[in-house]
Amino acid sequence: MEYHNKEVSAAATALRKLFEKTDDKRSVLRAPGLAALYDRLKTLPNSAQRAAFGKEVNQLKNELEQMVREYSVPKVELPAIDVTSPFDVNQSKPKLLPVTDGSSHPLMSELDKILNIFGRMGFTAVESRQLDDDYHMFTSLNFPPDHPARDEYDTFTTDEGLVAPAHTSVMQNRFLKAHKKDLEAGQAIAAVVPGRVFRNEDVDARHEHTFYQLEGIYVDKGINAGHLIATLKAFLEEYYGKTLEVKTNPFYFPFTEPSFEFMLSCPFCDKKGCGVCSYVGWIELLGCGMIHPNVLKEADIDSATYTGFAWGGGIDRLVMMKYGIEDVRNFHSGNLKFLRQFS
Ligand code: DAH
Repeated sequence: MEYHNKEVSAAATALRKLFEKTDDKRSVLRAPGLAALYDRLKTLPNSAQRAAFGKEVNQLKNELEQMVREYSVPKVELPAIDVTSPFDVNQSKPKLLPVTDGSSHPLMSELDKILNIFGRMGFTAVESRQLDDDYHMFTSLNFPPDHPARDEYDTFTTDEGLVAPAHTSVMQNRFLKAHKKDLEAGQAIAAVVPGRVFRNEDVDARHEHTFYQLEGIYVDKGINAGHLIATLKAFLEEYYGKTLEVKTNPFYFPFTEPSFEFMLSCPFCDKKGCGVCSYVGWIELLGCGMIHPNVLKEADIDSATYTGFAWGGGIDRLVMMKYGIEDVRNFHSGNLKFLRQFS
C-alpha cells in the first residue's frame, strides 16, 4: 500500500519495521507513531485536508490490522491430544495453540460492557449454572406440578433427571435465600445473573438451542413496577448510547405478578422500520414483572414487607440489535470472518 501524504508514508515505513521486529505483533496497533497521526489529524485547518489525511490514516490502520490478523506464530505440528482424558500431573503439559491466535468473543466482550453498566447501577453479578434440577427450574418459581407453563420451556433433561437450564431464573431462589440477611440488615438485594441456557428449539436465524440470558433481581421495601421500568430503560439507554422509548404489554409468567413483556423502540432504526425490528419499529425485548409473593415465600422472605422486580432476556438479542447482526447462528459458527469484525 502506498500513501501520498508524506507523514503517513513515513509512519507506515516505521510501523512496518516495528511490526517485523516486535514479538508482540498487536503492539503495532498501540504504537505512538499511529496515535500521533490521529493527533495530527485534529490539528489540520480545513475539512478537505482532514478528510484526505483521515482516509489515509484509516487505510494505514486497516493495513496494520490486516497484518496482525494474518500473522501467525510459525505453525508447529502439534500432536493430537485427547481433551477428554484426565490430565496427568506427572507428564509435561501438552503444547496448546498460542494465545495470540485468539480474541475475545463478541458475546463475552459485550457481556463485560453490560455487567459494567449494571455494576455502576449497584447490581452484583453472579453466574448461572449449566446443569440444574427441576426444583430450581420450575418448582421454586411457582410452577405447580404438571402446569402447562412448564411445556413452554422445551427443556432438555438428562437420564438422571437433571435439567439443562432453559432460563437464568434458576438462580432466583438460590440468590434470594442467600441474601435474605442483606434485606434484614436494611440493604436491597440487587443482582444480575448472566448464563448460558438451553432449549429444544428448531434452529433458525432468530432461534438457537443454546443462547445467553441475563436475569435481574431486585428486592427491597416499597419497590414497584416503576422502578423496574426505570432500571431497564436506564440500562438500555446507556448500552445503546441513545434515548429510547419503552413500553410494556401484559403477559404471563408463573413467577411474576403482574408480568410484562418489555418492548423497546428499535435502537437500530429509531422506529423507522428495518430488518432488525421486522419493520414494526418496536422489539419485544424480554420478560419481566414484580416477583410473585410465592417466589419470595419459597426463599423465606416476608412478602408482606418486601417486594421486588425481576427480568430475564437474551444477551444475544441485545448484541444483534446493537450491530445489526441478522443471524444468531453466527455467534456459535466459529466463522472467523464474522468473529474478527469484533476483535
Ligand atoms: N425466565 C423467563 C424466560 O426465559 C424470562 C423472565 C420473565 C425472567 C420474567 C424473569 C421474569 O426474571 O421476572 O422466558
